[in-house]
Amino acid sequence: MTRGIVPPKIRRIVRTIDGGSRSIGSLVSSAIYYAKKYPKIAQCATPEQIVLETLRCAPPAWTVVRPVLDRNAAPPSLAAYVTEELEEVVISTLLIHHDEKYWQHPDSWLPSRWHQTSPSVSGFMPFGKGTERCFGQSYIFNLAVPLVGRVLPLLDSFCVTEEKAMPDGPLYSVASYELRYCESGS
Ligand code: HEM
Repeated sequence: MTRGIVPPKIRRIVRTIDGGSRSIGSLVSSAIYYAKKYPKIAQCATPEQIVLETLRCAPPAWTVVRPVLDRNAAPPSLAAYVTEELEEVVISTLLIHHDEKYWQHPDSWLPSRWHQTSPSVSGFMPFGKGTERCFGQSYIFNLAVPLVGRVLPLLDSFCVTEEKAMPDGPLYSVASYELRYCESGS
């Protein structure tokens, strides 16, 4: 085994255990967070659009990693970064999702953009790409959309108790916040 590269079998087991809990929690809590922050926008959106836009703005898995199999295959634009030690390439889903090349107003949470956009559009890869993409994708979608639909009418019951958000920008979605369910809606 090459140093630092996890064999696919192990990676799948870890991903299955980890993916089912942390990432779905992150997705739903980010969706509630955005819907609370932008209630008027959320009111006009479907749960599906809210889930897609939250996956875009705040992808729970914000990097995808690929082993380097052939250093000579690197495109000229990346040649300067290819060294003998290079074993893996980390692709930032987060930065791609906030890239103006793919998205208009990339840093704004606008669920309505999904009215006319297909999830297979380039520049959108919350579940990775290709043969190694997440196999929990449909499961997550089928779970998160109705869940968000059930939570939306209860938004007043959630409160953001602590927010360490950076100003809107490419790193906005990695800001941390604490969301609590409050009976009183305070
Ligand atoms: C919101 C929830 C989830 C997100 C955002 C997510 C995202 C991802 C991403 C980005 C990858 C890497 C794909 C790539 O390298 O191209 C991945 C891989 C994987 N995910 Fe998920 N995932 C989620 C939930 C789940 C769930 C619920 C399961 C299991 C039931 C799961 C199982 C896996 C497995 C097994 C892989 C490895 C696939 C492979 O290496 O061939 N994920 N996931």
